[in-house]
Amino acid sequence: MQVHRVVHLDDLHDSVPLRVVLDGQAICLTKIDGEPHAISDVCPHNGASLSEGVIRDGCVICPSHLWRFSFHDGEKQGSHDVRVQVYGTRLTAEQWVEVEVPERAPERSLREVLLAHARGEVLG
Ligand code: FES
Repeated sequence: MQVHRVVHLDDLHDSVPLRVVLDGQAICLTKIDGEPHAISDVCPHNGASLSEGVIRDGCVICPSHLWRFSFHDGEKQGSHDVRVQVYGTRLTAEQWVEVEVPERAPERSLREVLLAHARGEVLG
């Protein structure tokens, strides 16, 4: 887990998305009711950048096909099966926003993926 200091809270505007890339992961960051929130910036439907969408009622609306994702649990509205990753956020005493970015599993080769599949492993 890496913690990144990203922006001062005063520079993060309420319900306005900010795209940041941390450790190669695109993240959609915003402030809701004075608190920072962060989710993946990549829409699981077709890969659109969620930070180009509009935020309403604690959700970002994807600009491509209008799916809505909650900043609180990452869940697509109306579907419990589809969600985006939620990143932990925190404020320093000086009101800097920090985002917790988990380390990604190393990429597997095609051979490793096929062998894991043959062993019946669930691939993520
Ligand atoms: S790409 Fe986001 S809803 Fe289609």
